[in-house]
Amino acid sequence: MAHLEVLIPRERIAQRVAELGAEISRDFAGHAVLLVGVLKGAAIFLCDLARTIDPALDVRMDFIGVSSYGTAKTSSGEVQLTKDLSEPLAGVHVILVEDILDTGVTLHFLKQLLLARQPASLKLAALLQKPNRRKVAIQADYVGFTFPDEFAVGYGLDHAERYRNLPDICIVRE
Ligand code: IMP
Ligand code: MG
Repeated sequence: MAHLEVLIPRERIAQRVAELGAEISRDFAGHAVLLVGVLKGAAIFLCDLARTIDPALDVRMDFIGVSSYGTAKTSSGEVQLTKDLSEPLAGVHVILVEDILDTGVTLHFLKQLLLARQPASLKLAALLQKPNRRKVAIQADYVGFTFPDEFAVGYGLDHAERYRNLPDICIVRE
């Protein structure tokens, strides 16, 4: 039976997310910002992050969906858009919010897609990054945690659609 090992407890996640929110509040002071969450993994991170941003800031939220073919644990490198944004991006300050930056293929695909719509600026936020697995040279502007080369679940992250509801970030031990 699978056993879950807590790697990042909820208190540390909350503290780090609040730090990122404070950083974003400083960086975008006086501007309107659109948070674009990548479904489904980044939904919980985005909702928590949004609530740590200075309420004086004009914050909007939107979601985009992608699927990458492959097995449950590795993407094949082929990314497809499954749900587009509901608003145009021209002239908007955008922060693309992703759960995890692994090979970089997904964020690279989305970055090109969104840049083509000519936002005023585009920043990348990732809750987790696995630095040794990059296939595409890409860096996030806001990173929660650097994670080991293990498969993470919880706090939005899934394994075959399970475990997204866990409040802590865990590793599944078989
Ligand atoms: P990339 O395109 O390889 O950077 O992978 C990004 C996507 O793969 C993420 O949005 C996740 O959906 C998934 N992924 C990569 N590593 C993990 C992990 O450790 N746990 C859960 N999902 C992961
Ligand atoms: Mg994902």
